[in-house]
Amino acid sequence: MAASQNPQDIPARDLPSAQGRTPQDKLIVALDFPSAEKALAFVSKLEGLCRWFKVGLELYLSAGNAIVEQLRQQGFSVFLDLKLHDIPNTVAGAVRSVSALGADLLTVHASGGPAMLQAAAEAVASQPHAPRLLAVTVLTSMDAAQLSATGISTSPAEQALRLAKAAHSAGILGLVCSPEEAARMRRELPGSILVTPGIRPAGADIGDQKRIATPSAALAAGADYLVVGRPITQSPDPAATASAILAEISTALA
Ligand code: C5P
Repeated sequence: MAASQNPQDIPARDLPSAQGRTPQDKLIVALDFPSAEKALAFVSKLEGLCRWFKVGLELYLSAGNAIVEQLRQQGFSVFLDLKLHDIPNTVAGAVRSVSALGADLLTVHASGGPAMLQAAAEAVASQPHAPRLLAVTVLTSMDAAQLSATGISTSPAEQALRLAKAAHSAGILGLVCSPEEAARMRRELPGSILVTPGIRPAGADIGDQKRIATPSAALAAGADYLVVGRPITQSPDPAATASAILAEISTALA
């Protein structure tokens, strides 16, 4: 895309399809593991259950591009959660570097600013097989106190909305936000694709997450995709836990 092009002209193919209506279309399992071997062994435990996997920094920095390619070869959709945050030129280059891998979704931090978001959107638009971009708003591990310690005195919800609007202005309609603010995002920013981490089935350990909801509450708030890590990966019976979450999603969708 030329630098002068209106962000709204970025073609729709650059956005994730949130049209899938099956529970498997909605659940993204976060593979936060220290090696490809451990991640792939875990994936085999969910055989036939899950369609989407997320590769985050822990796994990507140890397993590199190969893990993305292996998951793709096995037929899975891949969310490459690199949360890019740097100067515009560097982020644009990083987006181009991972574009050919076949990942379906890629994250950048919305707090990198409008110029960085614009550069990322332009980099995606310039690559034939680029992933669809998601802008991370405020991490679900941050509450008002954590945010305030970074110098931002508005609430996490207000800040998330402000960042989401900046992403939209840059032509990035995919957003990562807490399920707590999904309903407002949906209302104020129609056309958003909402990806929500911070998902905890009732009774699950919260860990370091702060702004959380159950799978059904997140879907009711308007989430398109639910990212679930430890409740499944640390479960004594991951397949049973994933099945229970998929059943909850199925009920919520019905
Ligand atoms: O284990 P848990 O379900 O908390 O994992 C959530 C996953 O979603 C982690 O891989 C984390 O990096 C990611 N994530 C998040 N909050 C964001 C964006 C991504 O928790 N805002």
